Amino acid sequence: MTDYAVVVTGATGKTGQHVAAGAVARGWQVRSATRSAPPHGDWFPLDWDDESTWAPVFAGCDAAYVIIPFNHPGAAERTPRLMEVAASCGVRRIVLLSSLDVDSAEPDSPLRAAEAAVGRLPVRSAILRPTWFLDNFTTGSFRGMTQAGELRLPAGDGRIPQIDVRDVADVAVAALADGGPEGVLPLTGPEELDHHQVAAALSEGLGRRVTYTSVPVEEFVQVLTTHGFSREYGVFLGAALAEVAAGRLRIPVAGTVERVTGRPGRTALEFARHHASVTGHSPLRDDAGA
Ligand SMILES: NC(=O)c1ccc[n+]([C@@H]2O[C@H](COP(=O)([O-])OP(=O)(O)OC[C@H]3O[C@@H](n4cnc5c(N)ncnc54)[C@H](OP(=O)(O)O)[C@@H]3O)[C@@H](O)[C@H]2O)c1
Repeated sequence: MTDYAVVVTGATGKTGQHVAAGAVARGWQVRSATRSAPPHGDWFPLDWDDESTWAPVFAGCDAAYVIIPFNHPGAAERTPRLMEVAASCGVRRIVLLSSLDVDSAEPDSPLRAAEAAVGRLPVRSAILRPTWFLDNFTTGSFRGMTQAGELRLPAGDGRIPQIDVRDVADVAVAALADGGPEGVLPLTGPEELDHHQVAAALSEGLGRRVTYTSVPVEEFVQVLTTHGFSREYGVFLGAALAEVAAGRLRIPVAGTVERVTGRPGRTALEFARHHASVTGHSPLRDDAGA
């Protein structure tokens, strides 16, 4: 193990767990900073709601991976302060997980505020701007739809180069290293896919039939609320997908993953096959309790 010490926030979440695993594999000291026990690294309890937990996490560390837990009320607004504390504790590199959505975000959005805050700090930094995650279909917001075998989204025939979070994490780990990439890093998958193609990749990779039907925004919001999400969150996602359907939100494939990692980003089929291999069964069988 080296002396290089990194903090990984969100280390129980979709990207953070892979960032922590990748950082451990590099031989770094890894502080996984979450409220619940993480799968990789040493657990340093951190709560966005409790500033007294912040400094002990960051003190003596070289670099930090910072996500913005948007689903936790007030956390996004507190993220600039969290990063200030990290810098004041001696952290020299911050890798912030932002989003490609920042381009269409309101001027006063927490996402823009967090990006601006990093730029003001006396640290080296990388801002990751990924497109939508493929993992939304297996472990994220659309998991219930994949389980039901039918993606009902208001995305029309619009195409998005969705990304495997392992690729986000691989770039994040590279950026946490001394001399790693800096600046704004747009992150996409290697191919623009419509949701018929995503459903086909899920079907083949998971070994289960998954179809796609384009539905009105209001129907999508209702489906999402039956899967336990708030109406507000459904309206937010529905509006973004409607932009994709209308062709107003176009995300070109970015070469960042290949440039940073030296290999192409993972395809949707590779993503689905990997998910099936690590879970040992498809999400549908999860539902059946098998
Ligand atoms: N989904 C997409 O398609 C997509 C695309 C682009 C960008 N993004 C961005 O990805 C970010 C989310 O990252 P993710 O998907 O890796 O995370 P995630 O899967 O949503 O998990 C959230 C993480 O935040 C932690 N957390 C939540 N509330 C917390 C609190 N009060 N104090 C401390 N930790 C807290 C959770 O850990 P504990 O509960 O264990 O504390 C968990 O590890 C968002 O900013 C989103 O904008 C998402």
